[in-house]
Amino acid sequence: MEVIAADLADPAAPARLVADCEARGLRVDTLVNNAGFGVPGRYLAKDWATHQASLQVLLVAVCELSHRFLPAMEAEGRGRILNVASLAGLVPPTGGHTLYGPTKAFVIRFSETLAKEVGPKGVNVTALCPGMTYTEFHDVNGMRATVSKLPKGIWLDAATVAKLGVDAVESGRTRLITGRANRLIAALSKYLPDRLAGALIAAKAKDFRDEG
Ligand SMILES: NC(=O)c1ccc[n+]([C@@H]2O[C@H](COP(=O)([O-])OP(=O)(O)OC[C@H]3O[C@@H](n4cnc5c(N)ncnc54)[C@H](OP(=O)(O)O)[C@@H]3O)[C@@H](O)[C@H]2O)c1
Repeated sequence: MEVIAADLADPAAPARLVADCEARGLRVDTLVNNAGFGVPGRYLAKDWATHQASLQVLLVAVCELSHRFLPAMEAEGRGRILNVASLAGLVPPTGGHTLYGPTKAFVIRFSETLAKEVGPKGVNVTALCPGMTYTEFHDVNGMRATVSKLPKGIWLDAATVAKLGVDAVESGRTRLITGRANRLIAALSKYLPDRLAGALIAAKAKDFRDEG
């Protein structure tokens, strides 16, 4: 196994990563866009550099790495792109973590659009939409104590989510929401009137969002 470290908040990183792979003679047939972090609080509580870094990692790097690795996948007639989005991209907005939900919604639509283009050329693209998952995510963004109040039943472990994602991209599914509870939340968000779905999520927001 070869490891190439890169800070994807650096706009030059995706091009450098691809060049490094080429220099080492590595052919990438599976791309997993997984890197991400959350920025709690209201939009103006953080400086622009923080928001810019989150857009670069969660959105621009996802698009650029896909664009740069796709030509070889198409040429081979086989490839896999697994974009780790989130249930946050499918539920009504709350205040706080301002760019997170919108970027994940973008990643879902981007994946589905790209899948239509490249699916017929043998490249599967999947948006994986996990709900609450046991990783370091909420330790890194300081939300562990808050999200710990959420019911245990909605949480999945990282290995389960990763396996579901791999199975989904292998089988050519374009969107996968992990876990029954999360699928129910997504369905309610989609089929309830906006105002009712928004009120339901607002009532729970304090358990997973820092809106301050
Ligand atoms: N955990 C959840 O409840 C949850 C739910 C839905 C979606 N997600 C999504 O799942 C994905 C993985 O997150 P996770 O839950 O596994 O969180 P995590 O344990 O904090 O892992 C985040 C990963 O992203 C990498 N990363 C962060 N900033 C980076 C940067 N600037 N450049 C390169 N790599 C960077 C981290 O690398 P380092 O360790 O080297 O910093 C780490 O490998 C994210 O896209 C997240 O939005 C998570």
